[in-house]
Amino acid sequence: MKTNKLISSLVVATLLISGVYAAASKSVDENQLGMRSTDLYSEVNAKPDGTKYGMDAPGTSKKIKRAYPDAPPMIPHDISDFGEITKDNNACLGCHMPDIAVGVQATPIPPSHFTSFRPNVALDKNGRFVEVDHDKIVKQDLKGALWQGRFNCTQCHAPQHQGKLRVENKFKKDCLDPVGRKYENKSYLMDHLEIGVKAGNGL
Ligand code: HEC
Ligand code: HEC
Repeated sequence: MKTNKLISSLVVATLLISGVYAAASKSVDENQLGMRSTDLYSEVNAKPDGTKYGMDAPGTSKKIKRAYPDAPPMIPHDISDFGEITKDNNACLGCHMPDIAVGVQATPIPPSHFTSFRPNVALDKNGRFVEVDHDKIVKQDLKGALWQGRFNCTQCHAPQHQGKLRVENKFKKDCLDPVGRKYENKSYLMDHLEIGVKAGNGL
């Protein structure tokens, strides 16, 4: 009985060792190296998978949760037919301006976009710009007019690629505790804009 056991464990050990050896000595073709899996000496077939943006029309897409509190939300719907955004021609405003948005169930552009945070400046005697309101948060309410530093929506809001990723993003939002979860679907930037600043300045 004992001898039988010894023999069978020896057989298993030999199989294991030869298996490991076989795996180690198996050569890998250079075309299989790296993530592109193609001829290393030519770029002809080294094509990425391509970007696949969601094609759902506005009103039929599913909103994407914010990556962190007050992150600019990703654009969940197709924007390919809206043309180029210019200062005077912006299709996004047609649905996202607060007075229209409610009716079409689009998220209204938030108050932060109708505010100028740019500090007031003046020219000093050397012709250089100097900040006038030092140590103050400037929040100039533009009374419903979009601050023109925000006219180009896609500078900050981007559509989301839907396809397979070669390298997955493993980012996990730790900051969203059970209370913070309310920030997943809405921004509250104007409510806590001055939190750290007030404490820091001892105001
Ligand atoms: C025809 C109306 C329409 C137009 C034009 C439009 N949107 Fe939207 N947008 C919507 C609707 C409705 C939603 C809500 C999701 C849905 O129902 O598809 C939305 C959702 C969004 C969201 C996500 C908001 C959130 O709370 O997560 C962003 C960001 C956005 N749109 C940006 C844009 C930008 C940038 C443009 C211009 C390039 C644009 N939209 C043009 C109707 C529109
Ligand atoms: C300079 C960057 C920037 C630009 C340009 C910009 N946004 Fe935003 N947007 C943000 C950020 C950051 C937030 C989240 C914090 C906040 O509310 O300001 C946001 C939030 C939003 C939200 C979500 C509001 C909510 O209540 O959750 C909508 C809708 C939106 N933006 C639409 C637009 C549209 C439409 C334009 C173009 C007219 C635009 N944004 C231009 C940065 C930008």
